[in-house]
Amino acid sequence: MGVVKCVGILTSGGDAPGMNAAIRAVTRSAIYNGLAVKGIYRGYKGLIDNEIVEFKTQNVSNIIQQGGTILKTARSQEFMTPEGRQLAYDNMCNAGIDALVVIGGDGSLTGARIFAEEFDVPIIGLPGTIDNDLYGTDRTIGYDTALNTIMEAVDKIRDTATSHERLFFIEVMGRDAGFLALNGAIAVGAEAAIIPEIATEVDQLAELIQNGFRKSKNSSIVLVAESELTGGAMGLAERVKNEYPQYDVRVTILGHIQRGGSPTANDRILASRLGNAAIDALLEGQRNIMVGVQNDEIVNVPFVKAIKKDKPINRDLLNTLRILSI
Ligand code: F6P
Repeated sequence: MGVVKCVGILTSGGDAPGMNAAIRAVTRSAIYNGLAVKGIYRGYKGLIDNEIVEFKTQNVSNIIQQGGTILKTARSQEFMTPEGRQLAYDNMCNAGIDALVVIGGDGSLTGARIFAEEFDVPIIGLPGTIDNDLYGTDRTIGYDTALNTIMEAVDKIRDTATSHERLFFIEVMGRDAGFLALNGAIAVGAEAAIIPEIATEVDQLAELIQNGFRKSKNSSIVLVAESELTGGAMGLAERVKNEYPQYDVRVTILGHIQRGGSPTANDRILASRLGNAAIDALLEGQRNIMVGVQNDEIVNVPFVKAIKKDKPINRDLLNTLRILSI
């Protein structure tokens, strides 16, 4: 592998607030270091369809505050096939791109790992997902904004929950990870969080009811992580109707509102630091790693580690929530 002269950037998978700040940082940092930059539209799909555009510093002006991704995003089935990846590689070479920065979640970084191994391409990943489920980084880009969106929405739901003295199950995103549900629950002062990480250890609903969660209150807010393991908010409400009919239960599924909006300062700063670090890593000859942050320091995490799907929740937080919800 020779010296990197031209970097391609793409965003892939579910969008996350702060992806634009990351695109801006990668582009500007690359140009600052004398590299050419090409924006690849619609993720890996765009690499296969040859949607590649030269990026200058102006292409990323005035985007740091915007949610979504100016590069658009997609989940590409074709990239999962060897033929699709071959096409992607050919287009990349024809465009003169000799390294990639991929901004996305675990599916996107899994794709990056396979592609990098197959074609010997240097790739740096940035953790871009609201789910916060990538191992080796304390935070992912978009997580803080999504948490704040959850907090604002649930504060409003609490008003009506209190007025009607109801039990609300509020389902939040996370794709089998409970970070949004657990930290969201602490941020809104919820009575409980029902999360997949402990779903096989305890019957969280039964525990909640047995602990007398309405002892001192007439309304309750419970955040539920979307997952088959939790049963989701609908599944839990169904159980309450059958097993504990004395409760007046309602469900809200927050859905894609959690993925939109202007990124928080924390997400903009994280994305800016990581974007810059991605170019530093490429220039140092690093490849096939995700750049992340641990204890406020930039770290390089091999793809295989980042995507290993067992990023642990902090169990102290469960205790904090339990104590504060009396
Ligand atoms: O990975 C991000 C995420 O928002 C998950 O939390 C959620 O399960 C999923 O994407 C939803 O994906 P889609 O927008 O494709 O329905």
